[in-house]
Amino acid sequence: MTDTTTIAIDGPAASGKGTIARRIAEHLGLRHLDTGLLYRGVAALVRDQGIFPTDGDAVGRIAGDLTIEVLERDDLREDGIGNLASIVAAHPQVRAALMEWQRNFAMGGAVLDGRDIGTVILPDATAKLFISADADVRAARRWRELSKTQDIAYRTVLESIEERDRRDAERASAPMTHAADADLLDTSEMSIEQAVAEALRLVNEQITAARS
Ligand code: CDP
Repeated sequence: MTDTTTIAIDGPAASGKGTIARRIAEHLGLRHLDTGLLYRGVAALVRDQGIFPTDGDAVGRIAGDLTIEVLERDDLREDGIGNLASIVAAHPQVRAALMEWQRNFAMGGAVLDGRDIGTVILPDATAKLFISADADVRAARRWRELSKTQDIAYRTVLESIEERDRRDAERASAPMTHAADADLLDTSEMSIEQAVAEALRLVNEQITAARS
């Protein structure tokens, strides 16, 4: 029997949502999609092709033609690409182009993490979490990651996270917000192991409730 369980994990940058989503997927034997990579892929192509990031129609066409190979690029995690991703992600044309992609992936069961999974992409998901953490904690986590491969100051990372939070939460099209039926999990004071354990507990509780 196919497991059609779908799990939506949303939250801001470096909240822990990516690791939590991957580990939940492993635990439940579901596929996992980091939807941020789609927007990062669009941003990388926009940068390569010299397209104006504010040109919604042109950026929307790039999103419409996105191929899976782009998601393998090794520059997608750069801080600059993250920032550009949050600019291109605000265009309704881009969000519309990527919606079907994400829903197709989720068919037959999957864990998706992003900003609008529980609200827009999978409003009927079996379980939903919204992961948060204080901005300075998130910036410190992201700085530790990025400084392994990039020469970057903590202050720059904090400012870029705060700017991205604002842009993602204030945009008109699919703003980042927690779905009314999502469980909230603040990971500020938790190790990643504690956060994963608590997330699994909440998800299992929601799956049990959905099946009863
Ligand atoms: O890993 P991190 O949380 O820093 O970022 P990400 O999940 O890779 O997302 C990069 C950017 O893509 C975000 O700042 C959002 O603007 C956008 N995004 C989005 O709009 N919707 C999603 N479902 C996922 C990402």
